[in-house]
Amino acid sequence: MSDRPRLLPLLATPRHGSRDVMTCLYRCGNACDHPVPNTSDNAYFGDLVSAEVSRRGVVRAGTVGALVLGLGSAAGTAAGAGAAAAAPNSPAPPAAAASRGGAGKGIGSGALTFQPIPPNTLDTFVVPNGYDHAVLIRWGDPVLPGAPKFDLRRQTAAAQARQFGYNNDYVGVLPLDKAGRRALLVVNHEYTNEDLMFPGFTSHDALTVEQVRVAMAAHGMSVVEIERVDGTGQWRTVTSGRRQYNRRVDALSSTFELTGPAAGSAFVKTAADPLGRTVIGTLNNCAGGVTPWGTVLSGEENFNQYFVGGDGAPEAEKSRLARYGINTTARYPSGNRKWDRAADRFDLAKHPNEANRHGWIVEIDPYDPDSRPRKHTALGRFKHEGANVIVARSGHVVAYMGDDERFDYLYKFVSDKKFMKGSSPVARRHNLTLLESGALYVARLEQTSADEIDGSGRLPSDGAFNGKGRWIKLVSGTRSHVAGMTAAEVLTFTRLAGDKVGATKMDRPEDVEPNLLTGKVYVALTNNTARGVGSNPKPDEANPRTANRHGQILELVEDRADNTAESFTWSLPIVCGDPADESTYFAGYDKTKVSPISCPDNVAFDATGNLWISTDGNALGSNDGLFATALQGPERGHLKQFLTVPYGAETCGPFITDDNRSVFVAVQHPGEITGATVENPASTWPDGDYAKPGVVVTWRLDGGPIGS
Ligand code: FEO
Ligand code: CA
Ligand code: CA
Repeated sequence: MSDRPRLLPLLATPRHGSRDVMTCLYRCGNACDHPVPNTSDNAYFGDLVSAEVSRRGVVRAGTVGALVLGLGSAAGTAAGAGAAAAAPNSPAPPAAAASRGGAGKGIGSGALTFQPIPPNTLDTFVVPNGYDHAVLIRWGDPVLPGAPKFDLRRQTAAAQARQFGYNNDYVGVLPLDKAGRRALLVVNHEYTNEDLMFPGFTSHDALTVEQVRVAMAAHGMSVVEIERVDGTGQWRTVTSGRRQYNRRVDALSSTFELTGPAAGSAFVKTAADPLGRTVIGTLNNCAGGVTPWGTVLSGEENFNQYFVGGDGAPEAEKSRLARYGINTTARYPSGNRKWDRAADRFDLAKHPNEANRHGWIVEIDPYDPDSRPRKHTALGRFKHEGANVIVARSGHVVAYMGDDERFDYLYKFVSDKKFMKGSSPVARRHNLTLLESGALYVARLEQTSADEIDGSGRLPSDGAFNGKGRWIKLVSGTRSHVAGMTAAEVLTFTRLAGDKVGATKMDRPEDVEPNLLTGKVYVALTNNTARGVGSNPKPDEANPRTANRHGQILELVEDRADNTAESFTWSLPIVCGDPADESTYFAGYDKTKVSPISCPDNVAFDATGNLWISTDGNALGSNDGLFATALQGPERGHLKQFLTVPYGAETCGPFITDDNRSVFVAVQHPGEITGATVENPASTWPDGDYAKPGVVVTWRLDGGPIGS
């Protein structure tokens, strides 16, 4: 089978899940090699009683166990218009870009009829029989009009700043017309892998300063105008005309406005920005979400790894830097990109506050290419996976967020102001201020079966991993609720505030996303191989397995079905792994009929409310993929694998259009295997030469909706 990598640097040293050493180094600065940053004696909840406080179309898979090769045929019949949420003509954004149509009976119980694909390690993109896929855009493709053609061997920062960035992660699709024919693709570029970007790479020291600047320009975000292909579920980029919305922001030169209570505080002032209001660059943008007012939120995640000189930072700052994973004992932590060679601001010995200007939620308005993106301090500072917003019944908007680190916390933000309906300029201006002030909460979970949690994953005798929980208020407006910390301090050093109030230490909370049809919230807890190991916190009912390799999904139901509530119930509908493994659970569904899943990372919902889950680091030996399950009715827990990404890659940013006819995913870090280089790639996806991250759209050949 020619799809196997040809010059394969073997995956000799898989780490967390199947994650390769190289991914651990570049993506999060070897976060798991460092001591757990949360050393607080914050009681984990076992102790808590009181709750006070290609080449396209190459492979299509048949049923499990049988891969069928064949070229994709032409896309099928017209799918009909009405893809994403109906929107007025541009440039006014939709009143409720993130709203879902089709609510009503049977929410989240839509039949998912596709035949699940089998686990595999092919170096190609695999979809079910009856589906097709195409690469929409890849690293180096032009974004801004006039972008030079990608030239691997003569790449410049100026060119990269006009081209699609590296390692696409979050994917959002926002409508540009009512007919569902035009839309804006908004994508995060989380991080760079210089081994796989620069021919002849030997070390970060050996890169030219211009190459360092190329890497900085390959970070950030892209906004790209796309159009539907002949009424099908396929989309392509618009390559002609003005492309007035197309945009790049990056870590090199884009400027961001700080908003909220920590903006202008002493913690974020630097020599270059004595007012503490304007930041250059955004770092490690991971997941995100489309807001109901038609903007995109993007999480700055492993920002710590970009800084040097932590050893020279003021002694008084070191414990706070260390709580965020910044190395305070060496000038250059191993594998550091040494960006200080290109920009002094990355040197904490000279500019200790610069680290405090990253780790925020960024809001970008893709409908206004001239707008300045903002970093909202009211949503706290941590390793933000992303943020997803729902409008509560009261009209306040609620953003749910996870801090992706072993033993870190779940958060939510409730706005002070209420959402204004409609797409008038007045409503638009108002809604753009919603994330500037509000209350920030951290979650504390309680358990119902604490005595029975032994780390094996065995279901308790009451039949569920479940319990109640409280949202502990950290800040409201400019008022702190944490003893000894000001509001600006709580928001800038939110992890320390969570430590103080006894938040629950979770197994890497990644995507946290409300189902807009039900208001229930779903949390991807990716894994935590340190759980219960040594002196680390023990398993508990929400994180029930020792040395948790496969992760779990948590379902959170706010009391009174009110997303602003300060209390909730929770349960684990899915405990991931090989269904033959006794420690797994699929909402009670017949485990012989579900697909194996490992390391859930990002979640999304289709128009009928079904849950889609993408994975990062499959510890069962397969490539990563995308899965779906109904959430209600007899099919709840019937998890099926919809696609796999090429060898070495991670599946990111799933997005399903509101007509259920197009599934977008980002293929991040294909071929990221230790020893791989541009010249000796572990993956040749998507073009057959060397590995390039890219965004893929998948659709049903007969034009029907995905699944049912
Ligand atoms: Fe960038 Fe938490 O994954
Ligand atoms: Ca229980
Ligand atoms: Ca992720």
